[in-house]
Amino acid sequence: MNIRPRRNRKMAGVRDLVRETQLHTNDLLLPLFLLEGQKQRIPVASMPGVDRLSLDLLLQEIEAAMKLGIRAFDVFPVVPESYKDKYATYSYADANFYNRALASIKQEFPEVVIMTDVALDPYSSDGHDGIVENGKIVNDASLEVLGKMALAQAQAGADIIGPSDMMDGRVGYIRELLDDNGFTEVSIMSYTAKYASGFYGPFRDALDSAPKFGDKKTYQMDPANRIEALREAALDEQEGADFLMVKPALAYLDVIRLLKDHSDLPIAAYNVSGEYSMIKAAAMQGWLDYDRVMMESLLSIKRAGADIILTYFAKDAAKILQNQ
Ligand code: PBG
Repeated sequence: MNIRPRRNRKMAGVRDLVRETQLHTNDLLLPLFLLEGQKQRIPVASMPGVDRLSLDLLLQEIEAAMKLGIRAFDVFPVVPESYKDKYATYSYADANFYNRALASIKQEFPEVVIMTDVALDPYSSDGHDGIVENGKIVNDASLEVLGKMALAQAQAGADIIGPSDMMDGRVGYIRELLDDNGFTEVSIMSYTAKYASGFYGPFRDALDSAPKFGDKKTYQMDPANRIEALREAALDEQEGADFLMVKPALAYLDVIRLLKDHSDLPIAAYNVSGEYSMIKAAAMQGWLDYDRVMMESLLSIKRAGADIILTYFAKDAAKILQNQ
């Protein structure tokens, strides 16, 4: 035997030299859940270690994450039931506590990258991402609400708008509206290949945003499909997206690689709530080594081709990366 692959694994120093993929704190984007009010901290039962926070505590959380080197955050609002209606009008109301909070975050930490969520579900009394008419989620009328929501977020100072709704044509619609209103510098991270997944369960608990009837299969993608993700990616590129996202991440590593190989845009992957909770739950039982399995999962997402990883593990992973 003159060829022995094990020689490149013989010691830590050699392994470090030949390592193909390196996870870095710069790759990580931390999702946060915002509550209205002050001094509010409500844990998410199905996501141990993740809390819903009012603005004052959320600012502290951002500061703590920044100390670990995290600079990008995706903020989601927990909207009281009484503010919800059929047309999600609270999403662009002047009094909207979410947009006000975005402005406060930008004022406090101008260097922080703030990403938003654009979809009707947190604000909709139907719990769907678009407007419901006669039991159907209507596409084109939903664009108007999504546009108003995105514009209000841009006015509040958002750096990246994140349409997670999967309506057709929304990236182009939002891009044009932003540009017409002078927000040419505001980016769009499109949820390009967002699958109708069971892994969003804990997130819907966190936001109390589960659909009141039916499911999201007429707009989110069928988990069986791969080629269709390319079609969505081509449209998002044409419509002016700055980043393409695949969601969830771990069950869709092949789709991350597919988009990475077919697009020049940065690829993001959303390591979603259910993917977080599975590892947390097993670790809490003592069945898995939390640090190892978390880092292995994040590394696999990066190896698959993700340039950016949205993950609830961001702080824990950053702590480990800091000590390496
Ligand atoms: C809302 C939205 C969802 C997630 C992000 N934005 C849930 C859904 O589509 O039902 C899921 C995130 C997660 O599970 O961590 N449009």
